[in-house]
Amino acid sequence: MNAIEVNNLKKKYNDNYVVKGVSFNVKAGEIFGFLGKNGAGKTTTINMLSGIIRPTEGAFCIMGQTHTRMDMIKSQIGVMPDAANYYYEMTALNHLVFFSELKNAKVKQDQLIHILERVGLSGHERKKVKGFSFGMKKKLGIAQALIGDPKLIFLDEPTSGLDPESVVEIQQLIQELNAQHKTIFLTSHNLHEVEKLCSRIVIMEQGLITKYGSMDELKKQYQQHIELFLKIGPVPAANVQSMRQELSQYCTDLMFEESELTCSVSNEEHIPRIVYTLAKRDIDIYKVVPKQVTLEDIFFG
Ligand SMILES: Nc1ncnc2c1ncn2[C@@H]1O[C@H](COP(=O)(O)OP(=O)(O)O)[C@@H](O)[C@H]1O
Ligand SMILES: [Mg+2]
Repeated sequence: MNAIEVNNLKKKYNDNYVVKGVSFNVKAGEIFGFLGKNGAGKTTTINMLSGIIRPTEGAFCIMGQTHTRMDMIKSQIGVMPDAANYYYEMTALNHLVFFSELKNAKVKQDQLIHILERVGLSGHERKKVKGFSFGMKKKLGIAQALIGDPKLIFLDEPTSGLDPESVVEIQQLIQELNAQHKTIFLTSHNLHEVEKLCSRIVIMEQGLITKYGSMDELKKQYQQHIELFLKIGPVPAANVQSMRQELSQYCTDLMFEESELTCSVSNEEHIPRIVYTLAKRDIDIYKVVPKQVTLEDIFFG
């Protein structure tokens, strides 16, 4: 089942399309990664999907409900607000009370305190937001998205600008929410984070989708050849020539120095053949390391 279905969605500001017709689906229960450089149109897309702004053209469905009837499912959506949208004289807890009233969600105070605990704001419930650090405001924003236990949660750069410890806490929280079958729509500039958390991704450039698919599919697409590194024991001089000759059937760019051998293979089925070629000459093999395609290769590729 799809939590979100987007069909040729566009947004125009002052005669200028900033989202130029995007189509993709988000599956229920997945962590979906939405990537792109600054200005690509990610926040504009999130704002349309979460009902904050109206699309200029196109359509989308959220949990089976068409976008023109967003009011029907608003209570099932959680949105992390833009960092600026805080009332500085309010305490963290009052913030959540205020937003749960706006959302018409009848949430008890101890549940709101529990939400603050989940995002790492225990002990700050009754402190005014004006004294909060950037990271604490960010956590409060995530807390706001969790009010009413929504099924679909939009998180726009939840970890950017946080200290490493808070980043790990928030990533763990995202994984916990996902384990509770929540669908998470995540934007992030941290490619390692996206690689760790997301099953499928979209990459946007200048209002258009340039890459879309599961992390595995995209990696396969970009894995034209595998760089292979082997740490090996001594090769008897008499064997070098025949070993090189035999290996050249399975790989290219063969480099061989003392205890290291590097090469490039077009197909992972060649890896065991390379290992066998060495082993049958009694060459010790300590390490076989294929270099995997990373999200960086896909993003910049
Ligand atoms: N309210 C607005 N009015 C005019 N232009 C806007 C508005 N909001 C965003 N834009 C422009 O739309 C483009 C995409 O912005 P945004 O969706 O915020 O990108 P991202 O979140 O990927 O960084 C940018 O060029 C931005 O300046
Ligand atoms: Mg943005």
